[in-house]
Amino acid sequence: MSVEYAVPETRPVAWTRRHLLGLEDLSRGEIETILDSAEGFVEAGQARRKKPADLKGKVVVTLFFEPSTRTRASFGLAARRLGADTIDFTTGGSSLSKGETFIDTAKNIEALGVDVMVVRHAVPGAPHLLAQHLKCGIVNAGDGAHEHPTQGLLDIFTIRRLKGRLEGLTVGLVGDIAHSRVARSNIHGLLKLGARVIVCGPSTLVPQGIDRLGVEVAHRLDDILPQCDVINVLRIQFERQRSGLFPSIHEYARLFGMDSQRLRRAKPDILLLAPGPINRGVEVTPEVADGPHSAILQQVTNGLAVRMAVLALLCGQPGAEG
Ligand code: CP
Repeated sequence: MSVEYAVPETRPVAWTRRHLLGLEDLSRGEIETILDSAEGFVEAGQARRKKPADLKGKVVVTLFFEPSTRTRASFGLAARRLGADTIDFTTGGSSLSKGETFIDTAKNIEALGVDVMVVRHAVPGAPHLLAQHLKCGIVNAGDGAHEHPTQGLLDIFTIRRLKGRLEGLTVGLVGDIAHSRVARSNIHGLLKLGARVIVCGPSTLVPQGIDRLGVEVAHRLDDILPQCDVINVLRIQFERQRSGLFPSIHEYARLFGMDSQRLRRAKPDILLLAPGPINRGVEVTPEVADGPHSAILQQVTNGLAVRMAVLALLCGQPGAEG
């Protein structure tokens, strides 16, 4: 399933930011600048060749204080495809165990000549703190339950590529909204680009007042499913939850899990996204996750182009225009 995306309705704007900390901060034009730049990197990513807008001589570090499979690997590959040198920092084996602070750790890594630092941390605002204390560009790769802007961008980019537009689409964000940084980045980005967003989950996993962001709120997936063009299923974040936020995993899967039976009641061209990792059999059954409506692995592939675009823009490379 692939269609040409429609010509954007607003003109992309010149990129002037040093950091990418969240989609809440960005204008519609800035988001479209990243998405349009990413179009120019899709081929470079797939063709396994470097773009002329390379980052030769630049240094990109991934500084991850939480586990990651997709984001860390994707940023590392994006930086190398652009010709940058890379440093991959993880907490295991680092001097954090000797009492070195978060900021001292980041400053010492920066002193190696880093141009862009890609940061993941369990505490909301941690990348923003580094942006205040360091001179290099900072990318938020996930800060607690706050934002994960490049995941939001790659989700939106995938929808735009496969649906041809964002304006007027109805996107359902289903599951653990309360603990999901991906939900927040999707909400900010999708609303700015003209989509309708419905968040859906058990009332214990949907924060009070989230409608103030401009989304609609639902607690029964079967009520909203027929209206949705896209469903983005969010992982139940067992590691961030207190116990008892829903009766049982079986009950959650019955009420909110995307399975074949439920899919038959959706629009025939419904697009299924999931940021990953997925709990197979909880948010989504294996036959749906691996089925024809799913773009889960395309999201990962598109993430490479999006992250190449982000790194190139932050480093001021004109070739990021494609
Ligand atoms: N979607 C996402 O952020 O995945 P990782 O935690 O594996 O990076």
